[in-house]
Amino acid sequence: MLDNSLKDRGFTTKRVSNEIFNIEQKVFAKPHNYGVIEQAVSDANKLFYLQINNKSQVIGYAGLIITPDFNDIWSIAVDPKWQHLGFGYKLMNWILTISKNKKVFLEVDINNYKAINLYKDFGFVIIDKRQNYFATGVPAFIMTKTC
Ligand SMILES: CC(C)(COP(=O)(O)OP(=O)(O)OC[C@H]1O[C@@H](n2cnc3c(N)ncnc32)[C@H](O)[C@@H]1OP(=O)(O)O)[C@@H](O)C(=O)NCCC(=O)NCCS
Repeated sequence: MLDNSLKDRGFTTKRVSNEIFNIEQKVFAKPHNYGVIEQAVSDANKLFYLQINNKSQVIGYAGLIITPDFNDIWSIAVDPKWQHLGFGYKLMNWILTISKNKKVFLEVDINNYKAINLYKDFGFVIIDKRQNYFATGVPAFIMTKTC
């Protein structure tokens, strides 16, 4: 499902899926394939948002799994050209606004210091570690925060 801000700007599921696919190819060792992304973006229980700059360029995205009791970050990424400019913070702010009064969970590669630091800045704490969590075979930290 698309965030209202994207619907208002005329974005389609296909366009959003393409943008996410392009960014994932640049930032993840094992990106999702296009079909998985399109299915997620079409899913009524997942909510997707794009970070767009003042030149209308898409520079990052966030996807959130919505359940009645909690939300879970499906994925978040910023195009490498646009990292370290505060856009990751903006995406996290969108996640926390959408998740008001709910618990948010996320799973992160234990070696992904950039992302772990970003999450800690927003008050997320590590509650668990799972072995072989990702397709790459690396373990994950489970982190959570109540918004
Ligand atoms: C994690 C990720 C989303 C962060 O995105 P980002 O846009 O670089 O994040 P920000 O710019 O908001 O913040 C990152 C750093 O830049 C700093 N920063 C923020 N605004 C800044 C600005 N205007 N000028 C300079 N630095 C700034 C922040 O303090 C932060 O510093 P820190 O890493 O020392 O804490 C990005 O690194 C990414 O896409 N990684 C690959 C995908 C990934 O791993 N996703 C997470 C999967 S769980």
